[in-house]
Amino acid sequence: MARTSAVVILAAGKGTRMKSDLPKVLHPIGNAPMLHHAMQAASALSPDLMIAVVGHGAEAVAKAALDFDPEAKSSVQTEQIGTGHAVLAAREHLDAFEGDLFVLFGDTPFISADTLARMRSARATADFVALGFEAADPGKYGRFVLEDDDTLTAIVEAKDATSDQLAIRICNSGLMCGDCQTMLRLLEKVENDNAQAEYYLTDVISLARADGFLCQAVLCDEAETLGINDRIQLAEAEAIFQESARRNAMAEGATLVAPETVFFSLDTKIGRDVLIHPNNVFGPKVLIGDHCEIKPFCNLTDTVLEADVKIGPFAHTRGGCHLSNGVRIGNFVELKNATLGEGTKAGHLSYLGDSQLGADVNVGAGTITCNYNGFEKQRTTIGDDVFVGVQTALIAPVEVGDGAYIGTGTTVTKNVPADALALSRTPQVNRDGLAPRLREKFKADGERAKARKNEAG
Ligand code: UD1
Ligand code: CA
Repeated sequence: MARTSAVVILAAGKGTRMKSDLPKVLHPIGNAPMLHHAMQAASALSPDLMIAVVGHGAEAVAKAALDFDPEAKSSVQTEQIGTGHAVLAAREHLDAFEGDLFVLFGDTPFISADTLARMRSARATADFVALGFEAADPGKYGRFVLEDDDTLTAIVEAKDATSDQLAIRICNSGLMCGDCQTMLRLLEKVENDNAQAEYYLTDVISLARADGFLCQAVLCDEAETLGINDRIQLAEAEAIFQESARRNAMAEGATLVAPETVFFSLDTKIGRDVLIHPNNVFGPKVLIGDHCEIKPFCNLTDTVLEADVKIGPFAHTRGGCHLSNGVRIGNFVELKNATLGEGTKAGHLSYLGDSQLGADVNVGAGTITCNYNGFEKQRTTIGDDVFVGVQTALIAPVEVGDGAYIGTGTTVTKNVPADALALSRTPQVNRDGLAPRLREKFKADGERAKARKNEAG
């Protein structure tokens, strides 16, 4: 049985090269802070304890950690003087912990569950496991000094490496695991007599080795260890995330007609036999049930679609929407904080905000809920089997009872009882034969105006 584990995610750095007021780990990938991706990766270990080490923008980063996992802890590292020092900052939560400690970086979002599982398996025989990769361009990465195949004797930072060591292509990803208390004890011994005057986490390896512990390298694909340092890498990371989210959606049974035009969020959930047409954008908190169809050019955020919902083209939903089984939403319909019962339809050009609609309601084209008076938002409640005629304005707060019928063009200013017909219209006037006379008058007016313009010009 695997040992219990704790995870420390290092996220105190500023990320100078982002040139941003926002801490680096809060920059979004798939509409979620980079930190959430690292936490999601770590959650594959089902850790007993997850701690974010925060520094720059400490409060905001700690809050983001809690947004992902309400049980997450955080520790503040006031000065960023090295990755080893950063792990020690989490001592307040680790002193009583018995088990393995995994160290991850908050700016390395793509570590796979499989790689973490391989590190954990390697712990069966090794005391410390560090994750490396063969770098296309080893550049400034720390280098793995290896004995036979995978026994690690040291990790040397590029700035401290000899020219022989710089020729090594197996590089350090930054991830490490080992017995928590042993790692903390060794970290206490780490000094900062190096080129950067920092307390390196990587020094744990040579210290462990000196104490007779076995350290082992596990390797992964370089793509997994992609760290984000600037906005160019952020855009590359976004592309990688989208590519993998599309593949996952398809692997889980969704059809994407043009996958490269569909954009997901980290937390998007898509059911089976969902048909997604080109050019759709899924913001945070979207859950799509089985057999739904998303027609082109929709933007969905904070929305649940139950099963068999058809939506779009050109629909916009946000602010906590819930669409029950069989709902139909057509073009140029905006829903904000709206709950729609089973089988309800809003086919064209409507705004339903702060609204609750029952089952089998038909919403006519151009229906608007007037939910805002410039100061306050008000709710519109509509029962089951209601017919809302075309061009209805519902002035909230207002309630419409089950089975009511609202005539076309009505401005609903007061509650409509169940089964009532609501109608508010200006009476129509017809004047026989007046149309040709009116046309002649307008034509003559137009010709006179043209003549005046020519004289003047
Ligand atoms: C680190 C590794 C290097 C590895 C590289 C991979 C060390 C000493 N070096 O170097 O071997 O090849 O990652 O990208 O570990 N952080 C803190 N507090 C600190 C310092 C860093 O929280 O005092 C955090 C940063 O916010 C970041 C992570 O730790 O998320 C890595 O720090 P960074 O400065 O980027 O390390 P590298 O110099 O890239
Ligand atoms: Ca880095």
